[in-house]
Amino acid sequence: MKDTLYQNGDEIVDFTFDEKVVEVFPDMIKRSVPGYPTIIKMIGMLAARYVQAGTRCYDLGCSLGASSFAMRHHIEHSDVAIVAVDNSPAMVEQCKAAVLEDDAEVPVAVLLGDVAETAIENASMVVLNFTLQFLPPEQRAAVIQRIYDGLVPGGILVLSEKLRFEDPHLDELYIDLHHGFKKAQGYSDMEIAGKRSALDKVLIPESLSTHRQRMKQAGFGSVDVWFQCLNFASIVAVKSAESARG
Ligand SMILES: C[S@@+](CC[C@H](N)C(=O)[O-])C[C@H]1O[C@@H](n2cnc3c(N)ncnc32)[C@H](O)[C@@H]1O
Repeated sequence: MKDTLYQNGDEIVDFTFDEKVVEVFPDMIKRSVPGYPTIIKMIGMLAARYVQAGTRCYDLGCSLGASSFAMRHHIEHSDVAIVAVDNSPAMVEQCKAAVLEDDAEVPVAVLLGDVAETAIENASMVVLNFTLQFLPPEQRAAVIQRIYDGLVPGGILVLSEKLRFEDPHLDELYIDLHHGFKKAQGYSDMEIAGKRSALDKVLIPESLSTHRQRMKQAGFGSVDVWFQCLNFASIVAVKSAESARG
């Protein structure tokens, strides 16, 4: 269904992932996040390469399960399970229905829960695809640390985020170009401004150096941006194969 949520200039309230958003979510994210379909495809490729036999994969802030499905269709081991977590009841309900309709064999458990409280165990791949940005900044380091601790050696975290730039010129440039991208996707100036206000206090972007430092601090050996388009990036962080288990 087409995203027309901000088309009629209604009073702007803080953005939530409610039933109305769930209905239009696939269209909304594709027309709002440059490179989203590419990121989802590549999550599948990363799963084929990094998911280890006898482990779990986590999709944190799974929405309708796009990352879970990408992993599910590319995992090359039969004894792997995916845990998909979201704190929006409407998202979880629809994601569960989509899992039932999908034909891949890797089991997916869709759980209603807070990423900040999700236990991560025996994981070889964890995906935070545009989710961390919605958590209060003071909770983010603990989440990344818990993910690092729950990964097996050689496991990866894929973190995709909207970025803020420390250079004010670049920050403004990328914000303007992103609005240009949304216009080219058919959103009007009013829709773009409405969504921006709704997200203002809810989506808090951080700089690439903040993410990088936090991941290094948690213990990740290799950390790099593997995809960036304007102010949207995806980072891969690898837990060194030599690190002690746990
Ligand atoms: C932009 S969407 C993520 C998109 C999804 N990962 C994908 O690739 O299609 C952000 C999701 O994170 C969820 N979310 C936000 N804060 C959360 C939290 N603290 N715990 C669990 N889920 C959260 C929202 O309900 C929403 O479904």
